[in-house]
Amino acid sequence: MQLEPLHADFGARVTDFDISQPLDAERRAALMAAIDRYSFLCFPDQAPGDDRQLAFTREIGEPEPNHLPKGEENRIDYFGTIGNVQEDGTALGNDHRKTIFLTGNNMWHTDASFKPVPALVSITSAYEVPSEGGETQFISARAAHARLSEEQKSTVDPLIVIHDYVYSRSKIAPDAVSPELARSLPPVRQRLVRTNPGTGQKNLFMGSHAKTIEGWNDTESRDLIEGLITEATAPEHVHTHRWQTGDVVIWDNRCLLHRGLGYDADKHRRLMRQTRVRGAGPTLEE
Ligand SMILES: [Fe+2]
Repeated sequence: MQLEPLHADFGARVTDFDISQPLDAERRAALMAAIDRYSFLCFPDQAPGDDRQLAFTREIGEPEPNHLPKGEENRIDYFGTIGNVQEDGTALGNDHRKTIFLTGNNMWHTDASFKPVPALVSITSAYEVPSEGGETQFISARAAHARLSEEQKSTVDPLIVIHDYVYSRSKIAPDAVSPELARSLPPVRQRLVRTNPGTGQKNLFMGSHAKTIEGWNDTESRDLIEGLITEATAPEHVHTHRWQTGDVVIWDNRCLLHRGLGYDADKHRRLMRQTRVRGAGPTLEE
C-alpha cells in the first residue's frame, strides 16, 4: 500500500487501494496492518455506495448494528447517516431535532464505547460535504498514553471506567434519549487503558461517554477523565480531516478520539454513510 503519513502521531492517506475490489487475504492483511500502525486511513476518490461498503465491512469483520434503530425499533440497520440529507434527498436545518441530536458527536469520543463490545473500526464514506465547516478532528490516544509520566501510567493503567450513553447524550438535552433507547444501552465497564493485541502498544480509552471511574467519587472521576481528554486533545496533537466528496475514511476506535466541528445545516448539505466493525470482545477481557 502507498501510505503518505498525515500527522507525527498517526494517520495516513492511501492512494493505491481500490475499495470497490473484494479484499483477498493479502490485501486484507495489508489493510489490517496499516490500521494497527496508522489508526486513521483516508482513501480519496472512492465513494463505494452502500452495498459495496457493507460487503467491505463484512470482509474486515462483523458489522455492528446502528444503536438507534436497534434500541428504538428493534430493527437491524448497519448504516448510520452523518449529516442532514435524508433518504428522500431533502436536507434538515439547524433546528431539527435530528440535527441537534447529531451535535453530540461534536464532543471528543470514540464510537460505541457505550456498548459492552465497543467498535473496532468505523468506515465513513462522504457523498456530499459542506463547502465550509463539518471537519472531523482526531487525536491518537496511544500517543496520549505514551506522553504520560510513569507515575500517571501507574495510576491510570489498572482503572475501570463506566461509559454511559444516556449520560453523554444528557449533555445535549435531558430528554435526548428515548426510554426504549436508554433501556437498550445500560452503562458498561471498560478498561481505561487498552493494549493492541497485535503490537502490544497501550492507549487511553475514554471520551464523552466516559462518566465515572469505578471506586472513585464523582469529582475525582471527572477531574481525571477531563484532565486526560484535555491533555490528549491539545492543538498540536490534533489532525483535522477536511472531507472531500468520495473520501472513505477508516479509523481505529480502540485508540483514537474524534469529534465533529459542526457546520451550518441551514446553508449546507452533508451526506456521509458510516458502518462499523464490532470489536473482538469486551475490553475487560483483553
Ligand atoms: Fe463518532
